[in-house]
Amino acid sequence: MNPKQAASEATRKVASEIPGYTYGTSEAARSPVSLADLELLKRTVNFTDEDQRYLHIAGEVIADQTEDVVKKWRSVIAANPHLAQYSLSLEGKPDPHYSAESGLRFRQWILDTCFRRYDQDWLNYQQEIALRHTSVKKNQTDHVESAAYIPLRYVIAFTAIINDAIKPFLGAKGHSADEVERMHRAWCKSVQLQIALWSEPYTDSSIAPNEW
Ligand code: HEM
Repeated sequence: MNPKQAASEATRKVASEIPGYTYGTSEAARSPVSLADLELLKRTVNFTDEDQRYLHIAGEVIADQTEDVVKKWRSVIAANPHLAQYSLSLEGKPDPHYSAESGLRFRQWILDTCFRRYDQDWLNYQQEIALRHTSVKKNQTDHVESAAYIPLRYVIAFTAIINDAIKPFLGAKGHSADEVERMHRAWCKSVQLQIALWSEPYTDSSIAPNEW
């Protein structure tokens, strides 16, 4: 792939307009994590060049399935009242606007995970996503009234669902079991890395105390 192709891949979008998606802009939070710390985290999950390559292949495989992937994840949330409450109004009613707008950004996150360069903009948007799960920024982007924050423990535990449920989608385009396994391994490492980053504001007592 030439550098021009790589650049357009990196900015691939699920829609031309994604409300509230501030990736790469000054509106996104600034990550307190340095690129050097990111490098150490990558080494900690053993995120290799091969993982990068397979994540890219995974992106190609799921690019036209993001809507179904998010539906699948959300079906697990919807089936669990203790999780569903965080997407509902304070009266416990569904909010189609909240669901549609955050859903589009959730779909874009899949592409970003697979195609973006893990650089300063990416780090910054990790911080932004994390804050949007905490009381600092939850509900603000879509101007909704819903539960104030999502407890960190559920964000961490939900990686089990994020990672399990994506696997059949990775196998949907006829790749060998070995290739699907490699794509999946790369995906899981990236998610683990991202959740480690997202724990930062939750564990900073001056930002989001007591949101475990
Ligand atoms: C590994 C776990 C999780 C991942 C990868 C994930 C991913 C995401 C992403 C990518 C977004 C959109 C960020 C943006 O605005 O650009 C988002 C928002 C959101 N997520 Fe999660 N999430 C996780 C766990 C959870 C859990 C456990 C819940 C609820 C039980 C949840 C509920 C929400 C809600 C309500 C929003 C909208 C937040 C807002 O008001 O801006 N998430 N999530």
